[in-house]
Amino acid sequence: MNNFSFRNPTKLIFGKDTIANLAKEIPTGKTIMITFGGGSVKQNGVYDQVKDALKNHKTVEFWGIEPNPTYETLLKAVALGKENKVDFLLAVGGGSVLDGTKFIAAAMCFQGAEPWDLMQNPRLITAVIPMGTVLTLPATGSEMNSGAVISRKATQEKLALGTPLNFPVFSILDPQTTFSLPKNQVAAGIVDSFVHVLEQYLTYPSQSPLMDRWAEGILQTLVEIAPEAMKQENYDVMANFMLCATMALNGFIAMGVPQDWATHMIGHELTAYHGITHGFTLAIVCPALMQVMKADKHDKLLQYAERVWQITEGTNEQKINQCIEKTEQFFRSVGVNTRLSEYGVGKDTIEKIVNRFTERNWIVGEKRNITPSIVREILEKAL
Ligand code: NZQ
Ligand code: ZN
Repeated sequence: MNNFSFRNPTKLIFGKDTIANLAKEIPTGKTIMITFGGGSVKQNGVYDQVKDALKNHKTVEFWGIEPNPTYETLLKAVALGKENKVDFLLAVGGGSVLDGTKFIAAAMCFQGAEPWDLMQNPRLITAVIPMGTVLTLPATGSEMNSGAVISRKATQEKLALGTPLNFPVFSILDPQTTFSLPKNQVAAGIVDSFVHVLEQYLTYPSQSPLMDRWAEGILQTLVEIAPEAMKQENYDVMANFMLCATMALNGFIAMGVPQDWATHMIGHELTAYHGITHGFTLAIVCPALMQVMKADKHDKLLQYAERVWQITEGTNEQKINQCIEKTEQFFRSVGVNTRLSEYGVGKDTIEKIVNRFTERNWIVGEKRNITPSIVREILEKAL
């Protein structure tokens, strides 16, 4: 097991009708900027609940943080926040609103001329405005982690930002909010959570049986509840889905283990160039990456086949092939495409992505051996 240090300061407030707790989580003396997406919260009653809970607080609203939040939009929020001397941020929405607000939190405290510099060099982040969240979409884990992924329209870039300062102070998760999600967002959330676990689990054996069992527990739970979660009818099913998504990327299954993240790095480029929804990009890249990296991931793939998919018959090679097929079928079972061609994406995009990896000197994967030419191989397998 590798050495590690672990700290997750986010207070998780989970369950039915918990949005009302906002009133006591934020001191009344604060000027709060509430950030929103495109308006789903007005249709599902979340907006009214938030406003009601904060009726005795001073609030400013910022609307329009889009899926895959853009730098261009976030700069407008930074300006509004500074103008109103905001000293607390509340993100209400999906991962994009939460991520965007983490960037706002850092950019509002940044003295430099070009806040994009924070994306290139997170060490420039020395202070942030504290933030809380009301999450309405289980997927990213952003509600209980310090990461944020920000896009820049002008350059078609999508980059991740990580600073321990960006953990939300609290996050409120009421599973009832998920009943209004469009089906494709539920599906994207299931795939995203599943792949978050794989990025931290499907590497090489590292003497971490506890991390393995926790990871397998989340994977198995997701497989078990996915058909019911897609129906969006049962509160407890949605609650378990929401908790799976949080636990998949809040650091709890990452203690002392190697991590991959190549699927995400490649997937982000598919969003940057083609706007494909985050979870959908992972469903394309993940099975292809498993194929190409079969030898490196051999032992863990075998464990995954046996423990998650209960594949016990056949040779090791057959078991591994079957579990890769099962993974792809699982994504397809929730209605998600798994091939680039299904999105009309072809070899020209593959070349652009390979060039980007080359220019950025990115060599990724748990063994740092996924070179740009292996990225090409993975994407060609996914055609
Ligand atoms: O904008 P509104 O109108 O609110 O609608 C949103 C949006 O159109 C809608 N929605 C959210 N909750 C809803 C709802 N509609 C009805 N009812 C509800 N309860 O869903 C749409 C998608 O929302 P978005 O926030 O974009 O989805 P998600 O939560 O999947 O976030 C995706 C972003 O997070 C990043 C992704 O790259 C992408 O930019 N990620 C962040 C991570 C992190 N912070 O750790 C890790 C992830 O790997 C990921 O990269
Ligand atoms: Zn993800």
